Amino acid sequence: MISLIRKRGSEIDMQMPNLQKAKIRNKETVRILTDAYKVEESLKTIGRNLTYFIKTYGCQMNEHDSENIKAILEEMSFTEIDDMEKADLILLNTCAIRENAHNKVFGMIGRIKHLKEEKPHVIAGICGCMAQEESVVEDIKKKYKHIDIVFGTHNIHGLPSLLEKVIEEKERQIEVYSKEGDVIENIPVKRDSKYKAWINIMYGCDKFCTYCIVPYTRGKQRSRQHSFIIEEVKDLVKQGYKEVTLLGQNVNAYGKDLEGEYRMENLLEEVAGTGIERVRFVTSHPWDFTDAMIDTIAAHANIMPYIHLPLQAGSNTVLKRMGRRYTKEDYLTLFHKLKERIPNAAITTDIIVGFPGETKEDFEETLEVVRTCKFDGAFTFLFSPREGTPAAKMADDIPLDEKNQRLYALNEYINQYSNEANQKYLGKVVPVLLENVSEKDKTMLSGYSDTMKLVNVKAPIDALGEIINVKITDVKTWSMDGEMTNN
Ligand code: SAH
Ligand code: SF4
Ligand code: F3S
Repeated sequence: MISLIRKRGSEIDMQMPNLQKAKIRNKETVRILTDAYKVEESLKTIGRNLTYFIKTYGCQMNEHDSENIKAILEEMSFTEIDDMEKADLILLNTCAIRENAHNKVFGMIGRIKHLKEEKPHVIAGICGCMAQEESVVEDIKKKYKHIDIVFGTHNIHGLPSLLEKVIEEKERQIEVYSKEGDVIENIPVKRDSKYKAWINIMYGCDKFCTYCIVPYTRGKQRSRQHSFIIEEVKDLVKQGYKEVTLLGQNVNAYGKDLEGEYRMENLLEEVAGTGIERVRFVTSHPWDFTDAMIDTIAAHANIMPYIHLPLQAGSNTVLKRMGRRYTKEDYLTLFHKLKERIPNAAITTDIIVGFPGETKEDFEETLEVVRTCKFDGAFTFLFSPREGTPAAKMADDIPLDEKNQRLYALNEYINQYSNEANQKYLGKVVPVLLENVSEKDKTMLSGYSDTMKLVNVKAPIDALGEIINVKITDVKTWSMDGEMTNN
């Protein structure tokens, strides 16, 4: 077994992130690299007899990155375990979207410090979006010397050589690029599910909403070539997968950064044509949602009638300060069009409360939109200033108490409408992809309906991975119960 005791003090910092640099976008074509990921023969056994634990804090893209990281580690012979205390390698795949995500990670970094006092051989690493933040990396460099590796969202494929340096040369590795990013193909993946799969269709974001850190941590918008995406879907179909979710911060803008006219509606059409039973996509920015896309969704039974359409705010002045590029009226027009052309569609949203300068009247307008749309569900957040973004510099004079009251009032409506939307399913039959055994009752399986409702049903274990018809018998706040039916 390799000795992991490191030479203290011999650390090299190869790259530091820089928020100003991360902001730069140019017109240069993005490189598509099919051979950037490689594990040298000598590294393929480096993790033999070593275990790893990875904790994921962020969005679906962050989760999918963890699936890539797991596969890379397993190509180096590391073995996954779910108990951090017993792991030889601990990785925190972080999220920078709001302050509380930061706090959770720093809490965990503290726990790891204690752990390493007892087990100094443990290697600890930070990756993901927080690793792209200058101030976080500065802090880790100066105050958290027990963190051995920091790598960013642009160099996941470089993990083998970083680990080699930490293990063999006993040197601390900090490597984060502030570049706009390439598209790296052929990174392996160890999927969490055997039935449904995440597929990146694009990376990064160019929208620069004024509150949001993502365009800085993930680089410029880079769509993958559709041929690679379709190959991935076909391969999943062959492996027996039932569902794919096409991932991007702004999937509707797919293809706009590529040459040619191939857009999201073409991709949806082609993915649906592979015969995969279910196609989903997140997240849709209202700005790029075209009629052609709506028609394509409506025309294909295997494109699920579920749309996550973030509103963020219902007041035009706030939307303008957020840099969202649509008005309340634009949003409502799109919302009604979707409901009209895809009548059974469930629509969910994201809303930020307490954006700098949000008046009581502005907030009331958000409530008004919520009362009109009666969303199937919503993620609601208090505005969290992110260093380096324009909104962090805006005067924010709403007392925290007031913000919390607004969030509470909003959530009351959200819960009410979510419940009302669910009640409509009582007695109805919905298709459910069974994916899990219930923890509480082993005779119950659970999964999601076409419209993304969590459904529990009594079913034999060998029905796992099947899409079955379920008659809804009971509706609860966050889930539904039902029974198998042949109708
Ligand atoms: N790309 C998606 C959103 C990704 S981030 C879109 O544009 O719709 C997920 C959600 O986090 C956002 O929709 C927003 O509601 C919330 N969010 C992002 N930055 C935030 C911040 N600084 N404070 C509070 N919420 C934020
Ligand atoms: Fe952030 Fe806006 Fe991009 Fe969504 S579209 S990731 S909110 S900048
Ligand atoms: Fe968080 Fe990064 Fe996703 S900031 S929400 S993990 S893109």
